[in-house]
Amino acid sequence: MICLGIEGTAHTVGVGIVQDTAPVILANVSRMYAPVSGGIHPRDAANHHAAVVVDVLRQALDEAQMDVEDVDVLGFSMGPGLGPCLRTVATAARSLALYTCKPLVGVNHCIAHLEIGRKMTEARDPVLLYVSGGNTQVIAFLNGRYRVFGETLDIGIGNCLDKFGRELGMSFPAGPAIEGKAREGRCYLPLPYSVKGMDVAFSGILTAALAKREEASLPDLCFSLQETCFAMLTEVTERAMAHTGKSEVLLGGGVAANRRLQDMVASMAAARGAASFCPPRSLLVDNGAMIAWTALLMHRHGLTTPVEESHIRQNFRTDEVAVTWRS
Ligand code: ATP
Ligand code: FE2
Repeated sequence: MICLGIEGTAHTVGVGIVQDTAPVILANVSRMYAPVSGGIHPRDAANHHAAVVVDVLRQALDEAQMDVEDVDVLGFSMGPGLGPCLRTVATAARSLALYTCKPLVGVNHCIAHLEIGRKMTEARDPVLLYVSGGNTQVIAFLNGRYRVFGETLDIGIGNCLDKFGRELGMSFPAGPAIEGKAREGRCYLPLPYSVKGMDVAFSGILTAALAKREEASLPDLCFSLQETCFAMLTEVTERAMAHTGKSEVLLGGGVAANRRLQDMVASMAAARGAASFCPPRSLLVDNGAMIAWTALLMHRHGLTTPVEESHIRQNFRTDEVAVTWRS
């Protein structure tokens, strides 16, 4: 079975083509919208997606050396995400489904990060630490659903890093530049450590870090910001592992490309005798292959989304989906 998936919840529009035999991923093509100044403007991002989605689709089909008629199932990111972006890719997916008469599957974006990690690493039943620009969640499978064990109470960790970088003149996305600067940091500056139960909050840390910019060097600030935020994320992830009794941790989302975060999570896992897994960068960031793979899994278990029920869901919660494809 061959499935084509379209991702478009935020900055990235991506088309992935996967199959259920090796090699699983036949194509995974993405294009990212970068705001000229300031933060992401949902309508501008949606216009970007509308302008490039056909090109991205053609490129993915070329890479997979196939025609759209060869695809058996069409998946799309139904939510959560920015309304205008979601609507744009949903329209593209519906048009393709109607044109080809192939079934459509609406996919929860957060679950797709977990499923592609489970397929492309050796993780089988992990706790997922999902850290991106807009999302920060600790997710694990329990009683037929992916449950959220902890999450951000305000902004996503990537958003915190990008805002910090923007204030200090770094270009978007700032995560990689902050990681580079943090490597030169020598001195830890105390910042508010904001873990509330199983949840985390980043906006206070961001304000506190920016308030220290006159008195501290940029490397020390970046180092301290990373150490504080990543320690919080590692702490709640460890607690979710202890609570669920799971012995695997999986990383997902663009911020998981950060080596310091990977090392912290890996050493936490090693200390508890657990295993830590991190997919390649192309599958950590938002991508079409993860949507395609999750749609394939869902379709194999009889789940499809009729076009008339394929409305987007901006606040689509991870735990709303009955995960019937896992026993
Ligand atoms: P979502 O819709 O899932 O919220 P997103 O649009 O934020 O996703 P991703 O590609 O998953 O997209 O993540 C982008 C984020 O990852 C940005 O905030 C960026 O700064 C951050 N990032 C990328 N590389 C690194 C890195 N090496 N260290 C820290 N953060 C990073
Ligand atoms: Fe994402």
